[in-house]
Formats: sequence, C-alpha cells, structure tokens
Amino acid sequence: MEQIAKLVVDGKTFELPIITGSEGERAVDISRLRQETGLVTLDPGFVNTANCQSCITFVDGEKGILRYRGIPVEQLAEHSRFVETAYLLINGELPTHEQLNRFSVLLNDHSLVHEDMRAFFENFPRWAHPMGILSSMVNALRAFYPEIPERSEEEEINITVTRLLSKLRTMAALSYKILRGHKVIYPRQELPYAANFLNMMFDSPVRSYEIDEDVVKALNVFWILHADHEQNCSTAAVRLVGSAKVNLYAAISAGISALWGPLHGGANQAVVEMLREIHESGSDPNPFLARARDKNDPFRLAGFGHRVYKAYDPRGRIMKGVCDKVLGKVTREDPLLDIAKRLEEVALKDPYFIDHNLYPNIDFYSGILLRAIRIPTNMFTVMFAIGRLPGWISQWKESMETPHWKMQRPRQIYTGPEEKDYVPIEKRG
Ligand code: ACO
Repeated sequence: MEQIAKLVVDGKTFELPIITGSEGERAVDISRLRQETGLVTLDPGFVNTANCQSCITFVDGEKGILRYRGIPVEQLAEHSRFVETAYLLINGELPTHEQLNRFSVLLNDHSLVHEDMRAFFENFPRWAHPMGILSSMVNALRAFYPEIPERSEEEEINITVTRLLSKLRTMAALSYKILRGHKVIYPRQELPYAANFLNMMFDSPVRSYEIDEDVVKALNVFWILHADHEQNCSTAAVRLVGSAKVNLYAAISAGISALWGPLHGGANQAVVEMLREIHESGSDPNPFLARARDKNDPFRLAGFGHRVYKAYDPRGRIMKGVCDKVLGKVTREDPLLDIAKRLEEVALKDPYFIDHNLYPNIDFYSGILLRAIRIPTNMFTVMFAIGRLPGWISQWKESMETPHWKMQRPRQIYTGPEEKDYVPIEKRG
C-alpha cells in the first residue's frame, strides 16, 4: 500500500508520496511540491535532503554501517584489493577471474600519460599544492584525449573510466617526483596497481624501491576504505557538475576540488598538522580539547565528527588497526600515533564530545598510516582522491543513466532588497 505524508498549506491538504529504500530508509517525495503548492523547501547544507535514489553505497550513520553494493566494507578491507573493489563499485558486481584480469591489463595498458603533459607538471611553482595540480591536470586530460566520434557512447565512457583510474595514480606520482626535482619513474607493466604506485613514488636511480607486501596491503585497504561514501560533498559536486553533461574528466576535476577542503578530504592533512602541534607544545591534548569545546574559538578537533556518522566511523576503526600493524612492521616509532590514541581516549570520555556524538572519523588515523609509508603530508588528500575515484565514477554513471535525469539546479529563497531604481553615480551618497 502506498504510504503518504500530508501537508496542510493555507487550510488545503496536499498528499506527498513516501518512498522506502531497500534498507527501510523513508523519504517524502517532494518532486511535485512546487508544481502543486507553489512552495519550495529550504534545507541548508542538504541535511534532510536526498538528492537521488542510488544502489551503490549504503551508510547507516547511527549504527556505523558501510556497504558497497551490499558488501560490508570490513569484508572488502580484509579480502579484496582496490582494483577489484573499484570494479565492484563501477559495474555493480564482483568480477570473475577473467573480468578482473582483463580490467587489470587495461589499467596497465593505459597507465602512461601523454608526454606533452609533463611540460605542464614541470611549470607549476614548486610550492603548488598537489591537489590544485591534480584537479587542473585531470581537467586537461580532455584536451589530450579528445572524444572520437566513431566510438559509441559506451566505448567512449569505458575508455575514459579506464584512463582516469589508471592515469590519476601516474599523475599523482609524477607531480610528486617533478615537484621534488627528481627523476620521473614510469609505471611498470608487471606491477599491480598499488605496488606500481608505490614504485613510481619511491623508486629512484640511486636506490631501487623494495616492495613490501604489508605496505601494499595497507595501501589497498586505505583506498578501499575511501572508495565511496554515497552523497558526500565531492560526490555531490561530481553529480552536480556532471548533470550539466560536461565530460567526465571535468566532473571528476570538480570532485577533486571539493575534496581539497579541510572540512572534507583535506582533514587528513589537518589531523597530522594538529597532532604535530600538540607534540610540539608538550604532548598534552587537553588544551586542544578545551579549545574545541570553546564556542568563542573557531578551532575544531580535526578528524572528529561526521555529517552522517553519529557513532564510531567503521572506516576509522579499520584504519586504526592497519596503522598499528604497519607501524609495527616498519618499526618506525611515531609519537603522533601515541598522541592520537591519547587524544581519542580523552575525547571519547569528554561530556562535550559525548553530547555532540563526536567520534574519530576515517581521517583521524589515515594520516598516520600515510606518514608510516612515507607519503608526504601535502599528498595525503591526493591519496584520498585516488581512492575516491571509483566512487565518483560509479555515482556519475548512475546519475547519467537514471531514467528521470535532470540537470541539478537548486532553488533559493531570495532575501535581498525589493525592486528599486538605478541611481546615477553623481546622485549617490
Ligand atoms: N570539534 C569540535 N566540535 C565539533 C566538531 C569537532 N571536530 N565537529 C562538530 N562539532 C560541533 C559543532 O561545533 C556543533 O556544535 P553546536 O551544535 O554546539 O554548535 C556540532 O558539533 C555540530 O557541528 P556541525 O558543523 O553542524 O556538524 P556537521 O555535521 O555539519 O559537520 C563536520 C561535520 C564538518 C565533519 C564536522 O564534524 C567537522 O568540522 N569536523 C572536523 C573536520 C573533519 O574531521 N572533517 C572530515 C570529515 S570525514 C570526511 O570528509 C572524509
């Protein structure tokens, strides 16, 4: 039986359908609201607004659940590899052996970037942020790999998706090497995705990089945990920009720009900077907690809180375990890990953090893992972007394929001045 919500406006009752998702989430469908009532809804930050129906990722923020295409992220982190998870997100099902091999071969075949693009990488100032470089260069990919009219739309999408997945990783390593003034290391055909990336980052003409399978596994887990998170800020940006029917490179470039923000993907960098500050000021987290509680201080505890999770972020829990393992393995003592654990312990007992449902999010421990595997701090958000790419792609594809496709264009409630006349400049003042 169809469920309905009733809305009474000026004494007149309107019926709005209630739709139910596959996990029991309910939503009032207001798509005909303006047409029928003349009203729009006001929902700053889209806190109560579902932008789409999606069958990719399920998050239950109250229970701390995250699943990709129905599979719990804990299982994927334990058993899958990033490339397989990317296939799952983009195609909807886990691949067979043959499909996975073919996908991996394609990713290797497309891993080089056009040599002429190097000139751009080489001419960014040395202090340029790698996220700015990445977003510009991803947008520039369209110029280097234009659409070929003879290809079908499906072929064009498939090749663009493959190029993006393969080249984003190459471009990230390329910018790292060039900004340091080091020799660029090319991708190698025989290496799988994560090992190939690590090799491009850390191999050098004077010392070859030894691939450590535990580090490769940790990086796979890091990317799997970041691979999708339904309608977060950067994914919403990809959907919104994509809805204008721009090419996929441009839509992904918009996602990278959104991710750069410190309230979103930039938080992993902010966490390490905060932990370093705590370390340098004597390693006592309490003054930082006091600042986070103080309403007159804009300071927030980086890596705490989440728009959706009002329980422990399940990705944060897995990341903490991976951190412990990798730090034990690389035998690098990191005082920041101890500070992070102490900070977490104190914050989780603090009434302010309890009352506000503030728990560590994925970024709280991810920066420590990245430090342990020698990723420089300004590359942290780039690592997040590589991980989130399959999510952006799958969400973009889903939004393009929806039968009720609409360009996204929110309304507003205008609160400015009413109509008034133009005043010539000599009469103003
Ligand atoms: N430290 C201190 N107080 C906080 C924090 C924090 N990290 N996060 C939220 N609060 C408080 C706010 O001050 C507010 O308090 P009030 O109701 O007493 O005024 C309340 O909690 C709600 O905060 P909002 O900003 O309204 O919550 P929202 O859901 O919009 O914010 C966000 C989520 C942006 C992630 C926020 O928790 C935050 O800024 N955290 C720090 C940055 C961070 O770690 N970002 C990474 C998020 S995960 C990701 O993007 C992958």
